[in-house]
Amino acid sequence: MDACERLVAAARDVRARAWAPYSRFHVGAALEAADGTIFTGCNVENASYGLTICAERVALFRAIADGHRRFTRLAVVADTVTPTSPCGACRQVLYEFAPDLDVVLANLTGITAHHRLADLLPDAFNGGLLPPTS
Ligand code: THU
Repeated sequence: MDACERLVAAARDVRARAWAPYSRFHVGAALEAADGTIFTGCNVENASYGLTICAERVALFRAIADGHRRFTRLAVVADTVTPTSPCGACRQVLYEFAPDLDVVLANLTGITAHHRLADLLPDAFNGGLLPPTS
């Protein structure tokens, strides 16, 4: 099993822990840091629907809280025939740290698509557009 397959396997495993009683759409994500450490996340829904957080941001926030800032690859797994791609909010939050992130989309049987994050978020808003702080 190569590094990419291991990342997809980690995303598939953590998907089993998704808390998604409202949508019944279970998602797993695995984010590889520059040093090779893997951080996983699943979606966590809430009876107050808008408080739901996606698997991708759970994985990223775990990594940030653990002191990581540079990332190489993200795997996202859902049980869909066509690829399940990160939502706009997750694209923006991931872009802050890793515009060149290799995004690997997979379902329960295998990889369905590959993208570079910047291609999923053209003309992204980024911190360089903000005025300098005094
Ligand atoms: N969801 C994710 O966790 N990641 C995605 O890439 C797409 C959507 C979750 C959010 C919500 O819990 C459910 O899937 C349905 O939108």
